[in-house]
Amino acid sequence: METLHLHTGTQDVECAAQLLRDGQLVAIPTETVYGLAADARNAAAVESIFAAKGRPQDNPLIVHISSLHQLDGLVTDIPEIAQRLAAAFWPGPLTMIFKRDPSVPATVSAGLDTLAVRMPSHPTARALIAASGCPLAAPSANTSGRPSPTCAEHVLEDLNGRIAAVVDAGGCSVGLESTVIDVTCEPIRVYRPGAVTVEMLQSVVGQVQVSTAVTRGLQEGEKALSPGMKYKHYAPKAAVTVVKGSARAFAAFVARRAAEAGEGEVAALCFDDEQHLLSVPSVCYGARGDARAQARRLFDALRALDQTGAKTVYAACPQTKGVGLAVYNRLLRAAGFSLKKLPYIIGLTGPTGAGKSEVARYLNGHGCLHIDTDALARRAVEPGTACLQRLVDAFSADILNQDGTLNRGELARRAFADEQHHQLLNSIVHPCVIDMTWQAVDAAWQDFVLIDAPLLFESGMHRMCDVTVAVLSDKEERKRRVRERDDASERAIELRMSAQPEDDFYLQRADQLLLNDDTLETLHMRTDALMWTWREAVADA
Ligand code: TXA
Ligand code: MG
Repeated sequence: METLHLHTGTQDVECAAQLLRDGQLVAIPTETVYGLAADARNAAAVESIFAAKGRPQDNPLIVHISSLHQLDGLVTDIPEIAQRLAAAFWPGPLTMIFKRDPSVPATVSAGLDTLAVRMPSHPTARALIAASGCPLAAPSANTSGRPSPTCAEHVLEDLNGRIAAVVDAGGCSVGLESTVIDVTCEPIRVYRPGAVTVEMLQSVVGQVQVSTAVTRGLQEGEKALSPGMKYKHYAPKAAVTVVKGSARAFAAFVARRAAEAGEGEVAALCFDDEQHLLSVPSVCYGARGDARAQARRLFDALRALDQTGAKTVYAACPQTKGVGLAVYNRLLRAAGFSLKKLPYIIGLTGPTGAGKSEVARYLNGHGCLHIDTDALARRAVEPGTACLQRLVDAFSADILNQDGTLNRGELARRAFADEQHHQLLNSIVHPCVIDMTWQAVDAAWQDFVLIDAPLLFESGMHRMCDVTVAVLSDKEERKRRVRERDDASERAIELRMSAQPEDDFYLQRADQLLLNDDTLETLHMRTDALMWTWREAVADA
């Protein structure tokens, strides 16, 4: 069959209307996505929709109408709440599920005794429904499982040669399918979020229940109240994982995974203005805070990702307010609900004796994973490690004890002899510690991770962090604490402290400061205050 490529002029609309009256399939534009339409009263035509899409037989269709009168003969009962919702949101991207009138062929709703109906706002869709004189059963005009089409080219990509015509009206203004709600129950229930948001529905009817399958998928053994929830959908050919975290954290995560997977294996779906941070092929889908743009562009972006040839796609996670919930739902479904939450990383530093360890201990007690980089640095040079071997290659085997362990005194003597040797030491040890730190971060289940690093800025580890905090305290006070804590001579303490940077160094570099110049209780209160700012940063991301 040759698929006609029609446009929106009167003659083309009349041609498409005639095809529909004749029981043919025509892909039509709507404000949400393109639909694959057939006369809803013609059972054979409706059955051919399932065949053309390869759609599972148990997944019901939505019937599209252009005037409220058409509800008569389609549904048996129009609850008062549905009348209010129709007044508020029709024509528009809202589908309501009613009791089906027995005169409607059962295949339309896959045998269910309910019927989903929507009145689209797209002028061409309305003109087609009116001109054909039929209510139109129409699922999204994609091959089953693929992203829904938001332009005629997408339709042809999937269905060219299998349908009578496509009516091309350019891109869809919403870009995601309609909100699907059940109005036969109380409170009304959202099965599929869309551009008519939960908040908008609440403003009209008060109480709204959102199906849990929207954000966590169907659980083992759970019945799909809306059959479409069961099926993997919207998916590009690659395996998708949704990744929640800041732009910086997302980019670092993708870079690590790409390095493991190898050249060309990984691609990313990211927000506008964040693409430059990525080291892999990527497709943008709107600005981080702009859910409407993300909705408009998501499906096209998912199709474009196929062109990269990547086997794995990491997708930057949208916000879940308003239309964002619909974007989040489609992306999660494309990912088979695979979601990776990146922790918020706090870099903690400060001179010796300032109270860094106390802050780390306190935060650890409040749910932050504590990564002690000093401990990691010791582990990095244990016998048998690549790092220790590199040190031996650089400084000779004299830095080893008889038993093969590192002789720290000897290494210090050599490494601190001059600046060049010192840098050589750092260039060997710091990357190992950074690798080990990333491993600890990737294994974390906590929302917050603390990288406790005396040399946070000197080692470049501050670049791993979402925020950096320096703990500072008066120098005499620090000396007193070190004296109390360590069994060291006055001269050794003096030496150690003079080797460390002055407060100014931290003041210039850290995002946040913790002044430890009062009681322990005050220090804890100040730490709590910082924690609030981190929680807020996570909530905003
Ligand atoms: O925006 C849209 O709704 C687009 C355009 C073309 O109007 N259509 C669309 O249709 O997305 P489709 O078939 O791709 O998705 C319809 C969804 C499916 O998840 C289906 O399971 C659900 O609506 N649905 C339809 N009738 C239902 C019913 N009687 N009970 C429960 N869920 C139903
Ligand atoms: Mg669909």
